[in-house]
Amino acid sequence: MEWLNGSRRRWASLLTLFCVLCLLVTPAVTVKHENFKTCDQSGFCKRNRAYADAAISTSKWQSPYTLDSSTVKFEKGVLTGMVTKKLVNTDTKIRLPLKITFHESGTARVTIDEEKRQKGEIELRHGSKARKERYNEAEKWAIVGGTAVSTGAALNKDAEKGSTRVMYGPGSKFEAVIKHAPFGVQFKRDGETQVKLNDRGLMNVEHWRPKVDKPEKEVKEGEEAVVAESDKDAGEDESTWWDESFGGNTDSKPKGPEAVAMDVQFPGYQHVYGVASHAGPLALKETRGGDGKYSDPYRLYNTDVFEYEMDSPMTLYGAIPFMQAQKKDSTVGVFWLNAAETWIDITKSTSSANPLSLGIGGTTSTETHWISEAGLLDVFVFLGPTPQDVIGAYGELTGFTQLPQQFSIAHHQCRWNYVTDEDVKDVDRKFDKSKIPYDVIWLDIEYPEGKKYFTWDPLNFPDPIAMQKQLDDHERKLVAIIDPHIKNEGNYHIVDELKSKDLAIKNKDGNIYEGWCWPGSSHWVDCFNPKAREWWKSLFRYDKFKGTAKNMFVWNDMNEPSVFNGPETTGPKDNLHHGNWEHRDLHNINGMTFHNATYDALLARDKEEDKHNVRPFVLTRSFYSGSQRLGAMWTGDNQAAWPHLEASIPMVLSMGISGYPFAGADVGGFFGNPSKELLTRWYQAGAFYPFFRAHAHIDTRRREPYLAGEPYTEIIAQALRLRYGLLPAWYTAFHEASTTGAPIIRPNYYVHPGDEKGFAIDDQLYLGSTGLLAKPVVKEGQEEQVIYLADKEKYFDYFDFWQYEGPGMVSVAAPLENIPLLMQGGHIFPRRDRPRRSSGLMRFDPFTLVVVLGNSGDAEGTLYLDDGESFDYQSGSYIHRRFKYQAATATLTSEDVGTAGKMTKEYLKKMEKVRVEKVIVVGAPDGWKGKKEASVSEEMAGKSAPSRKVEMEFHAKADGKAAWAVVRDPGVQVGGGWNIAF
Ligand SMILES: *[C@@H]1O[C@H](CO)[C@@H](O)[C@H](O)[C@H]1NC(C)=O
Repeated sequence: MEWLNGSRRRWASLLTLFCVLCLLVTPAVTVKHENFKTCDQSGFCKRNRAYADAAISTSKWQSPYTLDSSTVKFEKGVLTGMVTKKLVNTDTKIRLPLKITFHESGTARVTIDEEKRQKGEIELRHGSKARKERYNEAEKWAIVGGTAVSTGAALNKDAEKGSTRVMYGPGSKFEAVIKHAPFGVQFKRDGETQVKLNDRGLMNVEHWRPKVDKPEKEVKEGEEAVVAESDKDAGEDESTWWDESFGGNTDSKPKGPEAVAMDVQFPGYQHVYGVASHAGPLALKETRGGDGKYSDPYRLYNTDVFEYEMDSPMTLYGAIPFMQAQKKDSTVGVFWLNAAETWIDITKSTSSANPLSLGIGGTTSTETHWISEAGLLDVFVFLGPTPQDVIGAYGELTGFTQLPQQFSIAHHQCRWNYVTDEDVKDVDRKFDKSKIPYDVIWLDIEYPEGKKYFTWDPLNFPDPIAMQKQLDDHERKLVAIIDPHIKNEGNYHIVDELKSKDLAIKNKDGNIYEGWCWPGSSHWVDCFNPKAREWWKSLFRYDKFKGTAKNMFVWNDMNEPSVFNGPETTGPKDNLHHGNWEHRDLHNINGMTFHNATYDALLARDKEEDKHNVRPFVLTRSFYSGSQRLGAMWTGDNQAAWPHLEASIPMVLSMGISGYPFAGADVGGFFGNPSKELLTRWYQAGAFYPFFRAHAHIDTRRREPYLAGEPYTEIIAQALRLRYGLLPAWYTAFHEASTTGAPIIRPNYYVHPGDEKGFAIDDQLYLGSTGLLAKPVVKEGQEEQVIYLADKEKYFDYFDFWQYEGPGMVSVAAPLENIPLLMQGGHIFPRRDRPRRSSGLMRFDPFTLVVVLGNSGDAEGTLYLDDGESFDYQSGSYIHRRFKYQAATATLTSEDVGTAGKMTKEYLKKMEKVRVEKVIVVGAPDGWKGKKEASVSEEMAGKSAPSRKVEMEFHAKADGKAAWAVVRDPGVQVGGGWNIAF
């Protein structure tokens, strides 16, 4: 297995040493911690952590929440009842309506509201106009399906007194055991408890209470205003309940304290994943301090974190409050549907299975504590048992990723900024001259006049149409940035309309909110307002946004929203949105509503004016659960530093298992100048991001791949050609993601859920269902790569067919020009091998099929293909084939797995001449030695035509490399039925 020679190895370790020295002299740029809150600086987080500490340290802690048995009703898959919270030392009981919904899909949902706020029987402070209810519209934005209520769910009559049991899910294998006092729910699968809610008693719904200010004269010096004793628990610390200041901004908190929190336990589960996005490992760390652990909870509060740091639970630009837990052969999960600021504490405990075994065979459990500032307590529970079952069920609720246009999964070239239209045309020509494929060039914030979106700078971009025309000549596209901040300047038609139509976000007093962003003084469009979305739609029409052509698409940045002078670089929490919801309530959804409005605008642009409905492409920085329906995301402003390259892989993997697979990181690193080696390695890694864009800050040197010089330029070009060659496999993986929610790049645990040893591995990835396993080099000077193989299967080097055998670690040579990439036996994947300038020019290119034979000798794979741009696939205009190789008959067959629609025939006709030009069989049987022919038989009008002979070459095993065979030009259609017998 080991085939590096000694001298190369020593050289590699010398380089490693050298790079350690480099790191010591690289100036470190880090996030300004003082700009962002820790849990301790966030009142509700601090209170709930203190609550947890009190609960955990008190041996007889009893949660004060009780489900009143007399109120429990179960009807048609929905259980309702009244949970009450008893306050210490008083008879006051706070009423919290409970609803548990059992869905047909096997997903259960537990929702808790607060009666007083629900009915509006509360008073707001500071004369606020904000809504009184707890925010109940998160589902309106996040949920699009999977909510059919289960007709089969039924009460289990065996329930012990003081509890209610509901059997539900596929084959009624799931059960919810609802304990009444204290209130808690345990979810079981096949009789075994998988998820427990409020078992540790950390549930906390901060009920409304009036702030009672003592009459002026009675307040003595050093004494503070207090709440009426009847409304508060004895000894409660009121210091963080009201107005809260941070970094010079004061939050008026007109609704007082209103957090919701709950503990969610995963008994027997060692690992949890998800709650994207954070710059840390895929398998989440513990957060309550200790060696190598975090001391702050994972935070979800979308914001513009300048120069974010590595290995941190700090918040980033987007929030997906969905978590999965993994143990051997079992995956479960929860989705905490709440759009307010949220913190999640994670701890683990190990107990020995048998008290006599003294710790041997102990099981680890994971405990989590979810804390949100406002809104409903609303949690969905998924019982698996596979990773795909959980991710698929979450995807059914929040939607699957859109099937993107093909260009958008090819190579993107971005920079802040290409400064003129001539500059863009020049870069475009230089890519061609150096024969480097790319599909899209991007414009950052400098193209509009004075940062006024929907305009062009007349001096620098005098002829945007000619620029787009040149790009279109090679089927290339332009993406231009459009952000939600609108410059506050006279005679700018967009801001004039925003104001006159009253479509902007308001401040706490109900006046238009003004803050600072790129253009200086700005206002923000409120996309929670249906009228604002309608207006936004109209702005992208070709006759309104002059200078835009059909090959222009959009990038939404700064949509957290980023506000330079706002608290934590975002909007004040007491700002008001449409319907008078406070910004606090819906903050994490804000970015998604803007992304959604832009998506709809692009859809309308083509439908209304062109009748040619191409699929929109909109990149977003901020996101929430559901954003995957709208377009791609990227991991924001990273740095040209090795640790950022390394972190990008777990970050993108994490997006994939969080239902948002169309993800990538800025190739090359946004801030700073990468060394040529780093840049090259980054392209090699980027070739495995679902969203593959190079980007750079305005202060950096130009770094388009043709500038790198040899050997770098050629090595980068090879990585790009690898991506382009595999585009059919990527597109097939996107199709799978768009129909099942399956991740596009997949971590080890997803592919091998029974392999405990691989659960924390997050530096290598599988591409879709192709069996391709990549582990890009992410360390300076590294010349070999150790890859983990989880199963007893054959793996082959993608480039030279070197054969490896799992399970275990294998070492692969990785000098700069090599991308460690293996093919797992048992798969077939499609490729297109002719180098082109852009993916659009590959439309009618022939295919290569790579058949990789493993231990069983059989192999299987799929190809999905359509026009790559329109919605015609929804009418059957596509090709979907399954290829199967069977060892018993030594035959490769192609079968149709599509469903015919009204446009199927037309598309097949159009693709008639597109053939399979090559079939490569890797790991071919030794018995084929001496064979020179294979026989092909095609299906014509449903019947098999007489078979014909085609030439075949066989290459025997040599030097550790597998035997392989190739059939050139079997003369079969990619969209047809046929078989090839070897
Ligand atoms: C965008 O939002 C609107 C309004 O909520 C919704 O009807 C539509 O389905 C959303 N679009 C997508 C693609 O999710």
